[in-house]
Amino acid sequence: MSVAGKRVLLIIGGGIAAYKSLELIREISRRGGAVRCILTKAGAEFVTPLSVGSLSGDTVYSDLFSLTDEAAMGHIELSRSADLVVAAPATADLMAKMAQGLANDLATTALLATDKRILIAPAMNVRMWEHPATRRNLATLRTDGVSVVGPDEGEMACGEYGFGRMAEPKSIADAIDALLAPGPALLALGNNTSTRQGIASMGPLAGKSVLVTSGPTLEPIDPVRFLSNRSSGKQGHALAASAAQLGATVTLVSGPVALPDPPGVTTIHVETAQEMLAAVETALPADLAIFCAAVADWRVAGESSQKLKKSAAAPPTLSLVQNPDILATIARLKAGRPQLVVGFAAETENVIEYARDKLRRKGCDLIIANDVGSGTGVMGGDENAVHIVSPDSVVSLPRLPKTEIANRLIRLFTDRLVKGPSA
Ligand code: C5P
Repeated sequence: MSVAGKRVLLIIGGGIAAYKSLELIREISRRGGAVRCILTKAGAEFVTPLSVGSLSGDTVYSDLFSLTDEAAMGHIELSRSADLVVAAPATADLMAKMAQGLANDLATTALLATDKRILIAPAMNVRMWEHPATRRNLATLRTDGVSVVGPDEGEMACGEYGFGRMAEPKSIADAIDALLAPGPALLALGNNTSTRQGIASMGPLAGKSVLVTSGPTLEPIDPVRFLSNRSSGKQGHALAASAAQLGATVTLVSGPVALPDPPGVTTIHVETAQEMLAAVETALPADLAIFCAAVADWRVAGESSQKLKKSAAAPPTLSLVQNPDILATIARLKAGRPQLVVGFAAETENVIEYARDKLRRKGCDLIIANDVGSGTGVMGGDENAVHIVSPDSVVSLPRLPKTEIANRLIRLFTDRLVKGPSA
């Protein structure tokens, strides 16, 4: 666990999700990290300083003008003594203040004064989350290099349904681990692209950030059963490795695979499509995003917390709900869309025709199409033959090892990043 031995400054904002922050403190401690908390005035309406202090084992800070706190630990020191600053729940109000650079209480002052990376876990009503003002603030924060985890979709405390539930403590802790992981020229210098460009690094992708999804997703039915897609992750992992070799800062978001993490790549492990989307959103901004994962189209509605029992009666009926389309979500971002968004299409017939259709439906720039029909040996194998489909052309590569396909594709994407669609 990368958080082991590290210090997290946790800012608890004023939302009903604050109760989950107590579990987050425990999860970080369980992983060996230390947590120091700032509890906002509104946050203290939902959880008490006593419970926060008991779980973190540290003083709970809340007042910018407290003489005693300020003498023991000044607000600048508070914001810098951590390895990572996490705001969870990050309310619409807190996000708006951060986007504006306001500093009118201890939490916002610490957020503005810190020289460390910031991760936020937004939590709010779905209408507030979808409001253009919040979308604007989110885009500004991402551009400033703030990482974001969640929110999740689901039922809200207010009775409405949609996106706005704070990510689960385990997912937030995973994002913390990913951000604190030692990686290529990474964290001490911050996440924003201009800082990254200052990193001396070799290769045509130096200064560029690349995001790759790979592997299948796994959607639980009950604690022992799941729905999934066939995917070895070999092509996606090879793409991530190839981009890193050309000097890019690479984040790989991978579903469960039997492959080692590629060297020089920050790998975030997820299981479900919802977790994959959250990890992808956390990893943005990126210059190039390649969606190679075989994401399950559906998940089971109302996953059972207990193993479903086999009985003599009829087998259970599974009811399915649509998973978010990660590629389409990112390709259609109004702000913070990666410059080049690439999707994959695995088809068993009419490969090019379906790829063209997918290009239109998903809003991406390129589709890499391959025939995975029986007898091709592509699925799980070490070789692939692909067609690179853009709105006005199709270029086919011959059957080659997946590592060589990856190298050729990454070189082509690099050219497109530099020269635009004509490359
Ligand atoms: O719609 P289909 O699954 O065939 O589209 C394949 C492409 O879309 C791949 O790039 C895959 O990674 C991406 N995808 C996604 N999220 C989904 C389904 C597919 O990112 N829920």
